[in-house]
Amino acid sequence: MDFLKTRYTPMNRRRRIYEGKAKVLYEGPEPGTLIQHFKDDATAFNAKKHEVIDGKGVLNNRISEYVFQNLNDIGVPTHFIKRLNMREQLIREVEIIPLEVVVRNVAAGSLSQRLGIEEGTQLPRSIIEFYYKNDALNDPMVSEEHITAFGWANPQEIDDIMALAIRVNDFLSGLFLGAGIRLVDFKMETGRLWEGDMMRIVVADEISPDSCRLWDIKSADKLDKDRFRRDLGGLIEAYSEVARRLGILGENENPAAGGPRLVQP
Ligand SMILES: Nc1ncnc2c1ncn2[C@@H]1O[C@H](COP(=O)(O)OP(=O)(O)OP(=O)(O)O)[C@@H](O)[C@H]1O
Ligand SMILES: [Mg+2]
Repeated sequence: MDFLKTRYTPMNRRRRIYEGKAKVLYEGPEPGTLIQHFKDDATAFNAKKHEVIDGKGVLNNRISEYVFQNLNDIGVPTHFIKRLNMREQLIREVEIIPLEVVVRNVAAGSLSQRLGIEEGTQLPRSIIEFYYKNDALNDPMVSEEHITAFGWANPQEIDDIMALAIRVNDFLSGLFLGAGIRLVDFKMETGRLWEGDMMRIVVADEISPDSCRLWDIKSADKLDKDRFRRDLGGLIEAYSEVARRLGILGENENPAAGGPRLVQP
């Protein structure tokens, strides 16, 4: 694999493909690859709330690397190739399916609000929900009918996405349980990866405490982005705790101190 040997262009000379709320995508060293850069920006409620939290990007890069590498290793296809540095990873470019796929094991957040189910209630079974990725519309929830009628994904692709979601949920639930953490829910994105004439759906974007609800098994303390959404403080401490329990951050490592910061243009 030649691209693994290629030195990547320094950040300022790379072509920026997309800047989102939490990440920047740069052109990768080989066709069909991208570099995903994790920023320290935290946003919630469709970016109405915004803060920069030193070290968050470094932690999410490491945690997401760990999750995606493990998914690759157990045969769940993902866009992830390798981590490049403190804030960046090399990924395969995919055609993002414009859906946020949410898997819930325990009632929380919008499900609790909409259906009046108390937060923390174990659900009778895991529930998969789809939201249309559209900031202008506030990412509305949609059904399979909407998805196929508007051509965002066909029925076979929806089946593939749901099968992926269940595998990721089973894997993540076990991974976090082993770290004393309850996986309440998470969001994932998927994309179409083309290999010649063949196309398959893979897990894309990131899986991190920004996109999961993670509660300590014993204390029920929140170890995820709800600390920011609900002004609980201690976000970096919580994300560091997740990284430490997964064994990916040494006792003395301080993510807030390290890694290149993105200089905003
Ligand atoms: N492998 C990939 N190939 C192409 N695009 C990707 C890939 N993985 C993730 N993306 C996209 O890159 C962007 C990551 O940036 P970020 O998460 O900051 O976006 P965002 O502000 O949340 O916006 P969005 O509503 O588009 O997700 C997202 O739009 C995501 O869908
Ligand atoms: Mg995003």
